[in-house]
Amino acid sequence: MTPTQDKALLDQEKQLTAQAALRWVRDGMLLGLGTGSTAAHFIRQLGEVVQAGKLRVQATATSVASENLARELGIPLIEPRRGLRYNLTVDGADELDPQLNLIKGGGGALLREKIIATASDYMLVIADSSKAVAQLGQFPLPLEVVAFALPWVLDAVAAIGGNPVVRTNKKEPEKYAYSDQGNLLVDCHFGRLPDPVVLARQLKTIPGIVEHGLFLGLARAALIVRDGQVQVLRAGSAPKPAADFAELP
Ligand code: A5P
Repeated sequence: MTPTQDKALLDQEKQLTAQAALRWVRDGMLLGLGTGSTAAHFIRQLGEVVQAGKLRVQATATSVASENLARELGIPLIEPRRGLRYNLTVDGADELDPQLNLIKGGGGALLREKIIATASDYMLVIADSSKAVAQLGQFPLPLEVVAFALPWVLDAVAAIGGNPVVRTNKKEPEKYAYSDQGNLLVDCHFGRLPDPVVLARQLKTIPGIVEHGLFLGLARAALIVRDGQVQVLRAGSAPKPAADFAELP
């Protein structure tokens, strides 16, 4: 298979998982909208049913890009406020392991993604099959970092084996990339992560790291295509066809 065919196939998987997630969205729900190409499929499909008047929802997006897309599609948006809890957040992932621990932030939106996932009663991950791994760590772990702290953050991450690389702007590679909050993004190459809990704790002690891309214990379920079928993955139980569930698994 050529890389283009491969990409097209993975994109089809993303669409299928988005479609399966949409089946569980109910009228009146408050939703968290993720970021990335898979979440964008979900937002577009949600926009269609909202425009058709089949579903009334309110949502908060995890990035400016997702917010703009949702607004264009007429999905009503709500601002963060005290006491606000989302019924469901649907988001993508860069990697997910069998315990549903995730690496996120490849699109630079990890901070808002973690805030919204934490403010949600249910985080549902939708992802193409390339994202499911036995152990996290092949994908570089993203950090959101305050610019002033950058030199010391790089020293501290290097000291624990993270081989940090400051992310650069895709269009202007000589410039740094910035998050929606105006912070820098640093991609860490630790290699495989046998103990993400310990690493997450270590990263939290480094001043200037606003957030890291390890999402541990946040996802309740994930949708992945296997053998041409969308399957539900949950920590500690065997995969089941998504079609078996009339409501959120
Ligand atoms: C955005 O910061 C990320 O966490 C995305 O959720 C992740 O990169 C998945 O993106 P794709 O759906 O484009 O693979």
